[in-house]
Amino acid sequence: MTRYAVVGTGGRSGMYVNALATEFASDCDLVALCDRNIGRARIAQERVKKERGSEVPVYTDAEFDRMLAEQRPERIVVTTGPDRSHADYIIRAMRAGCDVVTEKPMTTSAELCREILRAREETGRELQVTFNYRYSPPRSQIRSMIGEGAIGEILSANFSWYLDTRHGADYFRRWHRRRENSGSLLVHKATHHFDLVNWWIDDAPQEVFAQGSLRYYTPAQAEQMGLSGRGERCHGCPVASRCPFFLDLAANEGLKEMYLDQEEHDGYFRDRCVFSDEIDIWDTMSVSVRYRGGAILSYLLHAYSPVEGYRVAFNGTKGRIEHAASENTYINGDGTVPGELERGRITTTLIPEFSRPQAIEPEMGSGGHGGGDPVLLRDIFAPTGEPDPLRRRANQVDGSYSILVGVAAAQSIVRGEPVKIPELLGDAPLGERW
Ligand SMILES: NC(=O)c1ccc[n+]([C@@H]2O[C@H](COP(=O)([O-])OP(=O)(O)OC[C@H]3O[C@@H](n4cnc5c(N)ncnc54)[C@H](O)[C@@H]3O)[C@@H](O)[C@H]2O)c1
Repeated sequence: MTRYAVVGTGGRSGMYVNALATEFASDCDLVALCDRNIGRARIAQERVKKERGSEVPVYTDAEFDRMLAEQRPERIVVTTGPDRSHADYIIRAMRAGCDVVTEKPMTTSAELCREILRAREETGRELQVTFNYRYSPPRSQIRSMIGEGAIGEILSANFSWYLDTRHGADYFRRWHRRRENSGSLLVHKATHHFDLVNWWIDDAPQEVFAQGSLRYYTPAQAEQMGLSGRGERCHGCPVASRCPFFLDLAANEGLKEMYLDQEEHDGYFRDRCVFSDEIDIWDTMSVSVRYRGGAILSYLLHAYSPVEGYRVAFNGTKGRIEHAASENTYINGDGTVPGELERGRITTTLIPEFSRPQAIEPEMGSGGHGGGDPVLLRDIFAPTGEPDPLRRRANQVDGSYSILVGVAAAQSIVRGEPVKIPELLGDAPLGERW
């Protein structure tokens, strides 16, 4: 039995804590929970008790080192938010002799990335980054097709990801909306997308140029929508009845218990106004990436769309693959399954050079993030040890490359010039891919 502790017991952690307390309880021993907000930690503690009948000790962030000493976990699951808090726990856990499983993004800046890489090299510990999208069957299928040479050598790709006005808006309500917390959506969100491309085409990004704007989630847009006199947050907002972005925390059992009822401990408001002038992340981003092997990626991220989903196309020396999907819309922690795909709303087409397009039946799975979450959990908590020809298990190499594209893109927007990934990595020891 491997001994586990989970640090960060907010919305996302529920999936891991529940898995540890139920499906994987015979392989894994959940020995501790830790959160800055003791109220949220106690909610998780209660859920564990309900599932397995025994209590798990809880610790605050200030007691993290004591938790390691007292409970002696062997693996730490890092699910804290803001994203910038990951690095500190990853490094402290590895230095204390633990392996680490971290939520994406691995971290938010080049400096923190280099610190993580040095700590990993010095300690020799394992660092797994949970890129759940890789495990989703239709996305794994794309990787197989490209890997098997269906369209030859990849020369270019274009990838557009659309977040709708429910899911996309949610990043403008809380910590994500400040670059210092999330690295912007180019890191927080696009780490998934850059990782997918890096993995799909099995190459390393080299150089990045980007443009970005913030023109929708702004006070000016709110005024145009007739939302004068709005409050700092949705709860108690004078214009709530007229605002299409009103998030009623009190009306959703999960959000109320997890956030509204726990505000007394840390003053974390989950429902700040999406039109606040405090927001400094971009809501529209365009990124161009050149890969080591010569392929070029053109990427767009849009955070206020009427649709939720993505379109990606790969152009190779022997043809083209087009793949598109619509996802269900959700707010993290609202009790729904996040990012589910529906058959009929996902398409894959193979277009060989000098031949007709062929519709490919997408492989489907059920569960969060396109069926990726349940497969990911099995891989983390009950690995079979069998070879993984798709190399879905991601470590610090993948974690670094995916965030560094976003970090480089953010720097490029600010500086108006291209940014080279090897310069961000410096002499930090990347290590081997698994
Ligand atoms: N892979 C995915 O699909 C996916 C989906 C959602 C979230 N996430 C990631 O999961 C992480 C958590 O996101 P969330 O939506 O649950 O956020 P959240 O705000 O709901 O929860 C974060 C938790 O961390 C706690 N916390 C904050 N700072 C802390 C610190 N220094 N030490 C200990 N605890 C601290 C907060 O009190 C809160 O309970 C983020 O990194 C996010 O990027 C991943």
